[in-house]
Parts: sequence; C-alpha cells; structure tokens
Amino acid sequence: MGNEEKYVERKGRLTPVLALATLVSTFGSSFQYGYNVAVVNSPSPFMQQFYNQTYLERHGTPIEDSFLTLLWSLSVSMFPLGGFFGSLMVAPLVNKLGRKGALLFNNIFSIVPAVMMGASEVAGSYEIIIVSRILVGICAGLSSNVVPMYLGELSPKNLRGAIGIVPQLFITIGILTAQVFGIRGILGNSSGWPFMLALTGVPAVIELFLLPFFPESPRYMLIQRGDEKKARRDLQRLRGWEEVDEELQEMRVEEQSERAEGRLSVLNLLSFRSLRWQLVSVIAMNMGQQLSGVNAIYYYADSIYGSAGVKESDIQYVTVGTGAVNVFMTIAAVFIVESSGRKLLLLIGFGICCGACVLLTIALNFQASVEWMPYLSITCVIIYVIGHAIGPSPIPYVVTTEMFRQASRPAAFMVAGSVHWLSNFTVGLVFPFLEKGLGPYSFIIFAFICLATLVYIWAVIPETKNKTFLEISQLFAEMNGAEIVVGTADPDTEELKRSGSWQEEAKVTAF
Ligand SMILES: *[C@@H]1O[C@H](CO)[C@@H](O)[C@H](O)[C@H]1NC(C)=O
Repeated sequence: MGNEEKYVERKGRLTPVLALATLVSTFGSSFQYGYNVAVVNSPSPFMQQFYNQTYLERHGTPIEDSFLTLLWSLSVSMFPLGGFFGSLMVAPLVNKLGRKGALLFNNIFSIVPAVMMGASEVAGSYEIIIVSRILVGICAGLSSNVVPMYLGELSPKNLRGAIGIVPQLFITIGILTAQVFGIRGILGNSSGWPFMLALTGVPAVIELFLLPFFPESPRYMLIQRGDEKKARRDLQRLRGWEEVDEELQEMRVEEQSERAEGRLSVLNLLSFRSLRWQLVSVIAMNMGQQLSGVNAIYYYADSIYGSAGVKESDIQYVTVGTGAVNVFMTIAAVFIVESSGRKLLLLIGFGICCGACVLLTIALNFQASVEWMPYLSITCVIIYVIGHAIGPSPIPYVVTTEMFRQASRPAAFMVAGSVHWLSNFTVGLVFPFLEKGLGPYSFIIFAFICLATLVYIWAVIPETKNKTFLEISQLFAEMNGAEIVVGTADPDTEELKRSGSWQEEAKVTAF
C-alpha cells in the first residue's frame, strides 16, 4: 500500500457489515411490509367464514352480507390507515431513538399484533384482527420511511443508489412470500390462516436479535448525538478501512449547509406560491399511483381472478405468478428508470394500466359466453402489473426528489407519504363495495383515474431527466407566476425569508 493512496478518493466497498446490515433491516422490516399487504388475500374465504361463525355464536343469527363486506374491507384497509399514522411518527422517533433504534422499537408494532392475530381464532374475536391490522400498518408506515433513511446513511455515496433499491425489492418478495404461503395446501386454509397471519412476527424477532450487532447511522451519531468516537468506530467498521476523517468532515459540512438553507414546514409548503404546481403535481402523482388500484390487486387478487372465471383450483397459482412478475419487474425497472425520461415512463405506464383496465372490463363482461376469456383477464392483470412497475410505482418518488430542493424536500415527502397512505386506504376500503355494486365495471373507475392522471402529467409535469435543479425551478416558476431570483442558492428559502418565518437557527453560515 502506497502512501499516496490517502489522497485518492476511494470508492466505497460493499463490506460484510454493510451487506448484512442491509439484509437484516430489509428482511426484518421491508419484507414484513410486503407480507402484510398480501397476507389477507388468499385466506379471505376462511377468515370470512370465521367472522360469520363468530357473529352467529354471539347473536344467534348469521351475519348479514353487507356487514361482512364492511368487516372484511375494514380488516384489509386498517393496514394502510395504520401506515398513515406510522408515517407521521417517523420524524420524532428517528430523532429520539436514532435510525436503528426506531427500527428496533418498531418491532413492537409487529410482534404484539402477530401474537394477537395468531390468538384471534381461539379468542373468538374478529375485532382483534382489525386492531392488529392497524398495528402492523403502523409498522409498515414507519419502516417504509426509516429503512431507506438508515441504509442511505450507512452506504458510501457510490453504493447509495444500488442499496436504495433493496427495500423495494424486499417489499415485493414479501408480497410473493405471502402469496406462496397462501396456497391452499400450505397455509391458505381453514386451519392455517391464524398461523399465516402470525408469521409476520418471525422476521421481527430475527431483526430484534440481530440488528443490535450492527452500527447505528454514523451521521446520526455524529450530528444528532455529537458522539464522534462512536461515529468514527462505526464508520470504520462499515467502510472496512481506518481513515474516515474526511467522510466525517463531509457529514459536518453537509449538515451545516443544510442548516444554512433552512427548512420549510408543511404549512410553508402549502402556502408558498412559488411551490404551488410542484405541490399539486406531487399530490396528483401519488393519488394517481394509489387510486389506479394497484393495491386492490394485491389485497383482493383471488377475488378478482375468481370473478374473472379462473378455475378455483388455479387461482392460487395465478396469484403467485402475478407476484413473481412483480418481483421481476421491480428489478428490471431499476435499469429502465435510470436510462429513460421520467415523464415518458409515467405516460407509458399509466397508458398501459388504463388500457389493461378497459380490456379487463370487456373480458369480465364476456367471460360467461366466451371460453378463453379468463386467460385474457389474467393477461390484463399481468400487463397492468408490468405497466405499473415501469412508471407509476417507482417514478413519483424520483420526481418528488427532483422537483424539490433540499429545504423543501422533507415537507414534500411528508405530503407525498400522507397522500400515498390515505389513497391506499381508500382503495382498500372501497374496492369490495365497488366490486359488489358495479361488478365487471369496477375497473372502469381505475381506467378513468389512470387516464385523468395521464392527462395531468402530459399537460403539467415537465421532463426532469438531465435537468439541473435551477432549470426545473425555472420551468415551474413560469407556471406559478412567481419571480425566480437567479443567483440565490435556493428560491424556496428566498420565499421563506420573505414570508417572515425564517428561523434564527437557520441563519448559521456554512463555513
Ligand atoms: C354464514 O354462515 C351461514 C351458515 O353457516 C351461511 O348460511 C351464510 O350464507 C353465511 N353468510 C355469509 C354472508 O357468508
């Protein structure tokens, strides 16, 4: 080893500590999130039977059909509602307990409901399941934010992108795992379902035992805790080399300049004219992403395939196939998103989803009279999943990062997250009633939402690929009718200063 090596910027390596910390946290947290999305799909007939039975024992009469639908849609949709609450808890928890600390604490919201759901049948209570779904939802809402933050702060710059994909991948693997366990011969039957629901506690327990051996985010240790010794030691373990002074210094500088830029609150974001169309666009994209019905497919896949006339015994395998396509497309999308225009992919993605929904409506209408219609329906759902995976699923996150600058980004992500979970909740709650009321035409609503989102994107959202932040701000400034002062570091903070809510703390100069 030469002496001059010190002066060359070294590329971060995927050290065993970093790789294992990534695996433990994504398996322990992101995987569970996906698992709980799909876990209620396959066992739903048996669980509804249990609801009916329980009701009968309590009241002496069988449950009414509409009340059962309500109880069931609540059991499904309490998960995204919990996700909304969980995402609101992120900021206080990561600052108080740290990133790793928040992930460890979060396991309470998995292990407790896992035990409750496992005991629900014995206890003869469907209320327990509904409450547990809120708790596992909180777990998902927290982990969907904290895992990317934790891994982003552990990774060296050159690996941040690649490691950032791992949580998303584990979510889809979690969905697929729940679909496999849901096969009738495995756990998707009248005796297996409580056990299947309780299995979500297993990754949580594994994480609880293994994650303490891995480092807390060095950035958190250094900046929020001021513990330089521990930050240095952890960073040395993560990087696999001794000289980490430079990176520690970088963290300090980065933090100072972030502070100098100030930080917008959600209220600022909602009231600033210079950010109006960016904000509307984030809301439109996230609503479009969820209200286009993608999660309806994972929550209710079996029921959709059932009404499409797919043979009862084949449904479980078709559902597993859909999940496998989703995993594959999530991997493929990484390469597609990197190399194509964002706007183009959003338009193509929503276009494909819209077309697939229209075709599915036709197929559902003719399934009684034409023998091969169920195959067309299966194809439509799979095309829909592919269309969603190349644009509507991954891109809103990328574009939100690109449309907002440092100072306004946290508030923008707060708004995006809330819209995401509340729209997800709406679909989970309403879909069973839609299916009952509109039959084959329920997918026309999704087609319409895809089309509306497509038109909005086409008309309003500029292409952001290969544009600098300044260029993007200028494109939006014209729409917002707001002057942009060229030469300022960040136009958003200019407005923050003018609005008088510029805080003292934010005035710290960078150097
Ligand atoms: C509830 O169970 C009873 C008998 O066990 C059955 O006749 C009835 O159709 C079930 N109700 C629903 C809504 O599934």
